[in-house]
Amino acid sequence: MKNNLSNIKKAINYLNKDKCVGIPTETVYGLAANAYSSVATAKIYKLKRRPKKNPLIVHYYDLKFLKNDCELNDLFLKLYKKYSPGPISYILKLKKGSSISKFVTNNKNTLAVRFPRHPIARRLLKNLNYPLAAPSANISTKISPVSPEDVKDEFGKKLSLILDGGQSKIGVESTVVELVNKPQILRLGGISKNHIKNFLNLNLIYNKNSKKIKSPGQSKTHYSPYIKLRLNIKKSVKNEAFILIKKRKQKNKDFFYLTKKNNLKEAAKNLYKTLRLIKKKKYKSIAIERIPNVGFGEVINDRLKRASYFK
Ligand code: TXA
Ligand code: MG
Repeated sequence: MKNNLSNIKKAINYLNKDKCVGIPTETVYGLAANAYSSVATAKIYKLKRRPKKNPLIVHYYDLKFLKNDCELNDLFLKLYKKYSPGPISYILKLKKGSSISKFVTNNKNTLAVRFPRHPIARRLLKNLNYPLAAPSANISTKISPVSPEDVKDEFGKKLSLILDGGQSKIGVESTVVELVNKPQILRLGGISKNHIKNFLNLNLIYNKNSKKIKSPGQSKTHYSPYIKLRLNIKKSVKNEAFILIKKRKQKNKDFFYLTKKNNLKEAAKNLYKTLRLIKKKKYKSIAIERIPNVGFGEVINDRLKRASYFK
């Protein structure tokens, strides 16, 4: 579906009828539904086959509706002014009397909120009188989608409307920052941990402790192509896909470049797209060159580690 006004109108129509719609965001595509409706949000869990205990991120246009749903603290307002709209989600305290469906929060008193920057997502949100719950538009634990075709791959005919916003510019999910208890980063993502740390002048910890799971993005298996993944590899073996970030002299049909210029931001953008392509080509094993653990490299390594862990 191309991005024209009639398609946005169609999406509004669907959402008003408690249906799910695939929507583009700058991070990854989302599976969106009315966050105030339990009928609509229940459909998200069903389509994604997502465990009910994993709460959803709610997407807002600006602070107008959010004020009815969450307590806004100073740290949040500071970050909001700096980074939103953009690839960051905030965990806030849910307000008593908010209309957010209990399915969204899993009956808890916190809410993950985000203000996407993609113009189609913004246009849609501006024209609705409710915010949108939207997890990544993939079957639970699988690779996140970065194009309308990827969303179609995941849900087929079960999802009848996907808005086309081109390939997601960032290509990995938003950074999740917890601002209710001790401020901390729960998921690495589109805005670098160090950037946020320096901006706040705070020693923000990154809580990657997966024993006590606070966030579904912290589960051990996630973003996974369900193919054997070998990390930090110098030389691949025969018939193995080899993911690279530095240009090699030799040509090989099994080489897949995330970037040829060692540009880690570009590499992150191409990560999920490349994993999906390799899966389509039916490789049985994937080798990955060592990726420096800085900036977007840290995000890529986090996703690869979780993608490589499956039974
Ligand atoms: O970039 C993104 O954030 C994308 C796009 C579509 O906006 N959405 C996304 O949603 O990645 P999802 O459902 O796939 O990931 C959900 C993340 C979890 O990993 C977790 O970090 C956080 O949302 N989460 C949601 N509610 C939470 C809560 N109440 N407390 C802690 N974490 C929560
Ligand atoms: Mg997800």
